[in-house]
Amino acid sequence: MNKVDVIIGLQHGDEAKAKCAYSICQENKKHYNFVVRFNGGPNAGHTIYHEGRKFVTHQIPVGVFFDIHSIIGPCSVVDIEKLTKEADELSKFLGKDIYNFILIDKRAHIITKKHIELDSDGSTIGSTKSGIAYAYGDKYLRKGLRYEDSIYGFLCVDTYKIFHQEKANILFEGAQGWGLDIDFGDYPYVTSSHCGIAGVIASGINHHMIGNVYGIAKIYETYVGNKEFQPKENTELPKFQKVGQEIGATTGRVRQCNYLNLDTLIPTIKINGVTNIIFNKIDVVEELKIFKLIYKKEIKIFKNFLEMKYFINDTLTNEIPYFIQIVYSGNPHKI
Ligand code: IMP
Ligand code: MG
Repeated sequence: MNKVDVIIGLQHGDEAKAKCAYSICQENKKHYNFVVRFNGGPNAGHTIYHEGRKFVTHQIPVGVFFDIHSIIGPCSVVDIEKLTKEADELSKFLGKDIYNFILIDKRAHIITKKHIELDSDGSTIGSTKSGIAYAYGDKYLRKGLRYEDSIYGFLCVDTYKIFHQEKANILFEGAQGWGLDIDFGDYPYVTSSHCGIAGVIASGINHHMIGNVYGIAKIYETYVGNKEFQPKENTELPKFQKVGQEIGATTGRVRQCNYLNLDTLIPTIKINGVTNIIFNKIDVVEELKIFKLIYKKEIKIFKNFLEMKYFINDTLTNEIPYFIQIVYSGNPHKI
């Protein structure tokens, strides 16, 4: 019996995971009884459209929109001050008290004022200045502060007791993306957590429990941080920034853009056992009429989106050794 479905980012974050998590949760709201954020902290910016209105979450899992208990998992780091502010704002936005729906695993680590202070220079690689690397740093130096040892107001739980109950059906919601993974990302231009399936397993889930793994990608790629990602000489790529409104939801920084890269996407799908892939922002490439991707280190150019889509479908079907469902979405509000 599958009890756990997973949503992960296949690129560098900002693949519209939140939109997909919202849609998947909405469709299955009778099925899921828990939604879990399994990595990262307030570095994430998840844009959600709820009944036509926009809200950006940073730490709160999407389950609260549907009265589903939402957990900040054991491998996450948490900024309680920001979480409280977010919970207050979201309660107001939804017109209901969401505090009872937010649970924090006892093992999650606290981001302190000191961590944020140390991160205030963006730690050279261009962090979100949320104290992430320093909180995880203290965790691994074995001198961090766990939620169970703090005195804060959100309900403290042992997720082992929740995840391994008979009736638990859980959606794991990832933050950031594979390109920012602490081990598999482009080190040191990474975040400090496991952004892929390893983060789910590390949260106390065994592999038999995992069902659908939704891999979320954009039809072009973006990255925020200090490395050079967008080729400077390319005059076409700034158009993606503009039409795609590629501005960071957490820091307001402009996201660098590049074409979809199948050379990195294919290993990402294989390593994470992605069963369903959702490509977002089709509306942007349609509007720009730029249909390009990178495959075998070359830029492939297509006449229209249909041609590009067939190429992606054929390539992924041939290269992935199991069946993978592929969906294309051009709607910013739902899949
Ligand atoms: P940190 O996670 O704040 O330490 O930042 C490390 C790197 O990950 C920087 O390049 C950030 O811009 C990037 N990053 C962290 N969280 C996100 C996210 O949610 N979306 C996009 N980039 C992110
Ligand atoms: Mg984001």
